[in-house]
Amino acid sequence: MNTIIINGSPKGDAQNSNTRIICEEFVRGMKMPCEIKCIANSNLEKLAHHVENYDTVIIILPLYIHAMPGILMKFIEHLRPSSIQGKSLGFIIQAGFIETAQEKYVERYFTSLAKQLNYNYLGTVSKGEAAAIYMFPKMFKKVLKKINELGKIYEQTHTFDQKIAQELGKPYELTKFQTWVFQFFCDIGLNNLGWHRVLKQNNAFDKRLDRPFLY
Ligand SMILES: Cc1cc2nc3c(=O)[nH]c(=O)nc-3n(C[C@H](O)[C@H](O)[C@H](O)COP(=O)(O)O)c2cc1C
Repeated sequence: MNTIIINGSPKGDAQNSNTRIICEEFVRGMKMPCEIKCIANSNLEKLAHHVENYDTVIIILPLYIHAMPGILMKFIEHLRPSSIQGKSLGFIIQAGFIETAQEKYVERYFTSLAKQLNYNYLGTVSKGEAAAIYMFPKMFKKVLKKINELGKIYEQTHTFDQKIAQELGKPYELTKFQTWVFQFFCDIGLNNLGWHRVLKQNNAFDKRLDRPFLY
């Protein structure tokens, strides 16, 4: 059984891509690491043709505006239903917001996509609160270890380990108390520290309240 990993981030294999880090971590502990291909800067028709050589396709993607990135949608439009039975399609979503409940709509779509393409649905693993992985990899040591374990077990069993998937998927929704604490951090501006730093680095801080599409 051969597997290809598709990196669905518009950032491709850039150093500041969390998807790149997760793709690499997923294959790092494997005896025979899977091939990783980026959608970004690829010829989508050629890439779609290339994945037909594999029994399993695992797409690893960030969530952008509660959805999959546009380049991934474009790539999916190039995929043709498999004429061979028994192939599998799986997904790993990583996103910035804490609750993985927001991934449920994309997950629902992925379930039906696998069916439409005549692939078995391997499942979707979701991880929230992942936006800062590339900035502070040491703080995410435990998360990356879980991704690494997920990859190792996948190589042996050809499935996503349910226990690890469940752990990565927490919290599905914040409790009322957690929401209250989070709101407090937002109100005192702590939640904005990192984002403001990025805006300043890009000389965009003064424009942070602009609403260019208002009129
Ligand atoms: C344009 C844009 C939209 C985003 N929208 C969401 C979102 O709706 N929900 C969320 O949880 N995270 C969102 N994020 C955060 C990304 O999912 C997160 O930073 C992810 O780790 C980025 O992966 P990448 O570095 O491989 O692109 C968004 C990020 C960007 C740049």
